[in-house]
Amino acid sequence: MRYQLKQIHCRPYTLNGLSLQLIESHYENNYGGALRKLNAITEQLASLDYAKTPGYVLNGLKKDEIVALNSTLLHELYFASLGGDGQPTPGMAEALARDFGSYQKWKAEFRALACALGGGSGWVLLAWVPRDGRLVNQYASDHSQCVAGGIPILAIDMYEHAYHMDFGANAPAYVDTFLRNVNWAGVEGLYEDAGRVAPPRPLVQEEFGDLPGLGVEDVREMMNSGKPVQLIDARPRHFVSRQQDIAEGATWRDPERVKEWMGELSKADPVVVYCAYGFHVGCKTAITLREAGFDASYMKVGHSGWKAAGGPVRMHS
Ligand SMILES: [Fe+2]
Repeated sequence: MRYQLKQIHCRPYTLNGLSLQLIESHYENNYGGALRKLNAITEQLASLDYAKTPGYVLNGLKKDEIVALNSTLLHELYFASLGGDGQPTPGMAEALARDFGSYQKWKAEFRALACALGGGSGWVLLAWVPRDGRLVNQYASDHSQCVAGGIPILAIDMYEHAYHMDFGANAPAYVDTFLRNVNWAGVEGLYEDAGRVAPPRPLVQEEFGDLPGLGVEDVREMMNSGKPVQLIDARPRHFVSRQQDIAEGATWRDPERVKEWMGELSKADPVVVYCAYGFHVGCKTAITLREAGFDASYMKVGHSGWKAAGGPVRMHS
């Protein structure tokens, strides 16, 4: 395929404090250059015999491809970010207030991030993250670093080619000028479109039985509340012999022999069972205990999840 050059989105002669010469050079040399490079790389990739191409050649081309591809996408967004009066629309002011506290707070962060790239190179992007349903400011030190799954809706180019001709090394003056030219109506349009992108499907594990599982935080809260909790580590024997640690406050019991040890537990206090990763062993053990009349539940994420969440452990003797 051949990537097509897009017309410059803003009208360069309407920009306040950014010269025609700067914007034209940026569009023709840097955006156009990235697009020409992207097409050349694409052509070269299409001509490769993958069975005979050394890995380093392929890696190099694919790295250059992502840099050139993102450069074209981000430059198109950059030119579309300009051409306004810098005054946020009510809709965007509200969205920024929700996620940053206020428009002013967002602006302070965005401006500081951009100025911090002065003298170097990179991008600062305002991006929507569908998974979290919120806006974030992200920094990127080159064209290839974007939030995975994020949708950029406003971009400032901090490569020197974006300002040196007009501002010399005075990056903050360029950033302020950029902010005075932001096309917030355009940003709001992109924001609306981004908001319609469905978040990725949640990654949920299959539940075993009808028993609802507890999270690590739920269990730690129960334990910290001072009420007695009987925490049972029911990892299969071969797991425990391989791993030396056990959650603080837990007692290991062999899940194969639950009928033998359940009599040592109290029916008056809650029991929480977990296994290695929160799959069926812990759940099955909790179900057996419930059927015997215990107030038992299981911790969904298991021993690994307890540690991943920073839960305290001790050596298992
Ligand atoms: Fe650029």
